[in-house]
Amino acid sequence: MRLLRTTWRLRRKFSALPAQCVTLTTLSLVTICVTVFIYCMGVFTHFLEKDYYTEFSYPLEGNLQPLVKELILGNEPPIKPINVFNYSYLKLCHDKCSSNVLSPKLLFVVKSALHNFEQRQAIRQTWGNQLQLPHVEVRRIFLLGTGFDPEVQRRVDEEDRLHGDIVQADFHDDYRNNTLKAMSGFKWAVEHCPSARYAVFSDDDMYISTKNLLRFIRNPSSYPEQESQPLLVKEHRDRSLKEEPASVGEGLEEEQSEFGNLNEESKLYAGYVFHSPPQRHHSSKWYVSLQEYPYHLWPPYVTAGAYVVSRPALLDLHYGSFYTKYFQFDDIFLALVALKINIEPVHCSEFYFWKKSYSKLGYRDVIASHGYGDPDELRRVWNEQKSSGHA
Ligand SMILES: *[C@@H]1O[C@H](CO)[C@@H](O)[C@H](O)[C@H]1NC(C)=O
Ligand SMILES: *[C@@H]1O[C@H](CO)[C@@H](O)[C@H](O)[C@H]1NC(C)=O
Repeated sequence: MRLLRTTWRLRRKFSALPAQCVTLTTLSLVTICVTVFIYCMGVFTHFLEKDYYTEFSYPLEGNLQPLVKELILGNEPPIKPINVFNYSYLKLCHDKCSSNVLSPKLLFVVKSALHNFEQRQAIRQTWGNQLQLPHVEVRRIFLLGTGFDPEVQRRVDEEDRLHGDIVQADFHDDYRNNTLKAMSGFKWAVEHCPSARYAVFSDDDMYISTKNLLRFIRNPSSYPEQESQPLLVKEHRDRSLKEEPASVGEGLEEEQSEFGNLNEESKLYAGYVFHSPPQRHHSSKWYVSLQEYPYHLWPPYVTAGAYVVSRPALLDLHYGSFYTKYFQFDDIFLALVALKINIEPVHCSEFYFWKKSYSKLGYRDVIASHGYGDPDELRRVWNEQKSSGHA
């Protein structure tokens, strides 16, 4: 519409010129506008992309597994790391996971923003509650960076004194630094919570059902089908893990472990998995240039809202990141690391990266849902699901 009006105005201006000339001017104007529009949409960029399937490579080249193995063993690998999280921790929560009695098995690592005091409080009272389950030791921490407002920092200090669950590192707290935040969490979990068999990384605007999460961990490949056919599932599980079949009828479910008989070594990295192309239009929040990433597809990636990693996967991803060039989006960065160290992300559609519209029954199998930035809504939904046995 605007374009039409402009050309009309131009036509009036040039009415003294011969009609042919005016038509030409209009034509070139339209061509220019269309070209600029197409450019902004990133269409040209797509033609210049490299093929992900045949041309992919990303620094550091070569097999990372031997290097990662050395780092896990505490040895010095033959090649120096190219990407180390070396910001210092202002708040470390160093004794969060130390316990003489019960060592924690499940760790929630919540990426939070400095100002979200209320959201953190709601998480403490709901899915982040460390005492929510009688049979699983749960721990929770919040990851923060730093800001410029001393009053906010004073409140964070106070919050930490009260709850002892803030891990704060010395980089600027901004969503564009999310990869730094994720790296600060991986490093912390590796070094300060070695007993946790699973770590859940989440944003601070998520609903999570810990109960469903544990159901998922017990049987990632067929969630949520299992509970109606317990016997079938047991067979399936045994086969899929290539373990000795357990004797039928034994109570292998509960006590043997809260995580079922999943192999201690299994490298689980799971959530909502995408196979999608990079955004090339310049107005996108997720715009990425060809220089930064030249391929036509991302590696398969787990959306960063909520995902779960087993301890062996956590170690590989953490130490693998030492040899993976920094990337600004944390979910893509982890996908690049996972690809390079050969961990295949596991997809489950019950991790909702959008807000699944709420109903009491509709949330029966939901593991995580985005869109719970309202603390009261989170409490309401979680409490209802908890009391109906689904959280
Ligand atoms: C962290 O390490 C990188 C090299 O990996 C170095 O360039 C940077 O200056 C270091 N930063 C700090 C805060 O020590
Ligand atoms: C990320 O953190 C670093 C270190 O504090 C800072 O220099 C940089 O400006 C931050 N980036 C953004 C986008 O805030």
